[in-house]
Amino acid sequence: MLHTTCYGQHNNRHQEIQTSTKGKSAFTQNTKNLRAHPVFAYNATMQKLKPTPHNQLQLPAPSDAALASSQHLRDLIRQDINVAGGIISFSRYMEMALYTPGCAYYSGGATKLGADGDFTTAPELSTLFGSTLAHVAQSLFQQSEPDIIEFGAGTGKLAFDILSECQNAQIPIRRYFIVELSGELRARQELCLKNFPQVVWLEHMPQAFSGVVIGNEVLDAMPVELVMKTEQGWSRLGVCSATEPDQTLTLASMQDEASVIAELIAQIPDADQLPTGYITEVHPIAIGFMRSIANMLLAGKQNSGKGGACLWLDYGFPAHEYYLAQRDKGTLMCHYRHHAHPDPFYLPGLQDITAHVDFTAMALAGVQAGLDLLLYTSQAGFLLPAGITTQLQKIPVENTQAYLPASNALQKLISPAEMGELFKVLVLGVDIDFPDHLLAQDRSHRL
Ligand SMILES: C[S@@+](CC[C@H](N)C(=O)[O-])C[C@H]1O[C@@H](n2cnc3c(N)ncnc32)[C@H](O)[C@@H]1O
Repeated sequence: MLHTTCYGQHNNRHQEIQTSTKGKSAFTQNTKNLRAHPVFAYNATMQKLKPTPHNQLQLPAPSDAALASSQHLRDLIRQDINVAGGIISFSRYMEMALYTPGCAYYSGGATKLGADGDFTTAPELSTLFGSTLAHVAQSLFQQSEPDIIEFGAGTGKLAFDILSECQNAQIPIRRYFIVELSGELRARQELCLKNFPQVVWLEHMPQAFSGVVIGNEVLDAMPVELVMKTEQGWSRLGVCSATEPDQTLTLASMQDEASVIAELIAQIPDADQLPTGYITEVHPIAIGFMRSIANMLLAGKQNSGKGGACLWLDYGFPAHEYYLAQRDKGTLMCHYRHHAHPDPFYLPGLQDITAHVDFTAMALAGVQAGLDLLLYTSQAGFLLPAGITTQLQKIPVENTQAYLPASNALQKLISPAEMGELFKVLVLGVDIDFPDHLLAQDRSHRL
């Protein structure tokens, strides 16, 4: 997501850390020097498990109705904590805060995406993003069924732009499936896509699919587990409710079997070397999701005899950059009306909660389940070879009202200082020869 942020003034849903170190690739064991990035401030009190008091965050005041909805969700979360014996995992908390029907962030009535919401994504920024992806899909349709399945379609804007470009450029597409967790967003998608009969909403991921899978900023919206290195070793942080009178939600160590912790920590390279007090996230739900995607594509290949590919566009790092000693508070971040802050307990249901994607873990999950790793690169390294500037050139320069905003948005999508470098693209597939021109800036060796 792109954010005109406020930590002081600017909110990106991405966090960079200043470093110059060497990393190992899980695939090739190559080493490299990382680029230096500005440090993104983070609330140090998170490390002490005491989130900043809400009244110090100076965020815009929600309406009475929004406050009541958040209070209702908080009550449901407390009930869940009580039923679970006093503590729930952070992933369960995040799932409830984002997806509880009716009152959570994605399933409630908040605007969420765009200028009037809390954050902006690439498809919301520009039609050029979707029209470029339409041509990438076309180049894969020669080896797969001519179908797309999009996970987490937001407002439907990406589907709209892809389908419009397919129509304009006569790209034959048979069906455009959407799997969306949020009923509220699905209703918006139905309105946005009402003129495209190819669109079919599915309640669940199908068992088999051949075609092109797309997910833009979906992996970062999946619940994560929080883990902390203590003097006694790694432990998982859960969510409990403080005692009367305020019953604030707070983090506390969970009592897990050693095998549970070992499985979670396996995602972190050199976990033993990280310092005591280090807090970070691990992504068992996104890893499980990638395995299911792999099984779906492999079954699609078996059924149809045709290949399939999945494209994931999101902000994140390879594991050796994610789990740096310097990034000792993790990447968990919350977004409320284009402001970013680190307190996951601020007004549950009214703010987005997100964490960066560990692209090494995503790639490994897919490859171990039987997919081929086809491409890993930056968003700029993907969109430029994919022809995004050709899409811009279709707008006459003389039409300044259309051309200038489009070229400005293109700049945001590809500039290394905006989304071009912080956002990455991971492509995995079965029985697909990925087109050579799209491999121009492949950096799979860095995973
Ligand atoms: C940050 S929004 C991105 C929306 C859209 N892709 C865009 O780029 O504007 C995350 C989306 O993913 C959806 N989502 C999260 N987990 C999902 C899952 N497991 N399956 C389908 N959709 C999911 C959310 O409901 C929401 O629509």
